[in-house]
Amino acid sequence: MEDRLKSIEDEALRALEDAQDKEAVEAVKVRYLGRKGLLTGVLKGLGQLPKEERPKIGRLANEVKTRIEKALKERLEALSSAGGPKLIKGFDPTLPGRRLPVGHLHPITKVLNEVCGIFERLGFSTAQGPEIELDFYNFEALNIPPDHPARDMQDTFYVDDKVLLRTHTSPIQVRTMEIMEPPIRIIAPGKVYRCDSDITHTPMFHQVEGLMVDEDVSFAHLKGILTHFAQEIFHKDTKVRFRPSFFPFTEPSAEIDIQCVICRGEGCRVCSQTGWLEVLGAGLVHPAVFRHVGIDPERYSGFAFGLGIERIAMLKYGINDIRLFYDNDMRFLNQF
Ligand code: PHE
Repeated sequence: MEDRLKSIEDEALRALEDAQDKEAVEAVKVRYLGRKGLLTGVLKGLGQLPKEERPKIGRLANEVKTRIEKALKERLEALSSAGGPKLIKGFDPTLPGRRLPVGHLHPITKVLNEVCGIFERLGFSTAQGPEIELDFYNFEALNIPPDHPARDMQDTFYVDDKVLLRTHTSPIQVRTMEIMEPPIRIIAPGKVYRCDSDITHTPMFHQVEGLMVDEDVSFAHLKGILTHFAQEIFHKDTKVRFRPSFFPFTEPSAEIDIQCVICRGEGCRVCSQTGWLEVLGAGLVHPAVFRHVGIDPERYSGFAFGLGIERIAMLKYGINDIRLFYDNDMRFLNQF
């Protein structure tokens, strides 16, 4: 009989622990303490026990009843003070979760991806090269010998006599042509470095180089592809202008302007009243560059171009100070 009472108590207390609402607590009460409940049954059957056992079992049964009643009351209190059904030791899982801030891509990364996407859809694949570069690839193989005045155009960070931080992505043209046979169609995005800092220059910025080499590649191909590019990245009605220019590694060379995105060609402060904005340098690959990498300039021709990502991002988003991209001010970055 004592064992029976013990197991009734254990069962009842466990059932209470599991009870998650008032109804469940009530059911436990009925099952054990109700008129036909298990404990009530024991109390009613006391009469059948041998006389000497009755007082002892009776006392025990009453103690069990008191403990179950106390546990019932405590469980009810715990449930109602939680104000809800599922309190688990001071934690309310029905409260809404805390939202974690979600990051996003940096505006430069976004524009870089967009630019690369446009050329990838035209069948260009991506090439890469080192940011710490040899003078040979950055200058000499690009037809810029040691004392060439064109070196003044690029304020170079030198590591030593032969090693420097690349000042443009054009060395990747040379590295690609060294290891690939025509037909070649690549773009090469990456960081470049120049000792320069003001509202339109940062010492590190991003360029995307383009190179296409095959038989019969002409200036018309270059024009078509860059016009398509400008109209994809800015606006489908964007007007494009090719202006004669000079780069040692292209002949003929051109700088490419788009009609000012701010004033649409009327003339404003951003375009210095000209109505045009320079966005690209380009030209046909110089035969001297082909000779450096062992490609026959009589058989093959090609075009190359280079564009600055920061400049395009500034024009696209109407940003007037390039340094904003690298200050890491969240008030600026959160706008993208
Ligand atoms: N590398 C040149 C620059 O950084 C741009 C360019 C690339 C011009 C390819 C022509 C051809 O100024």
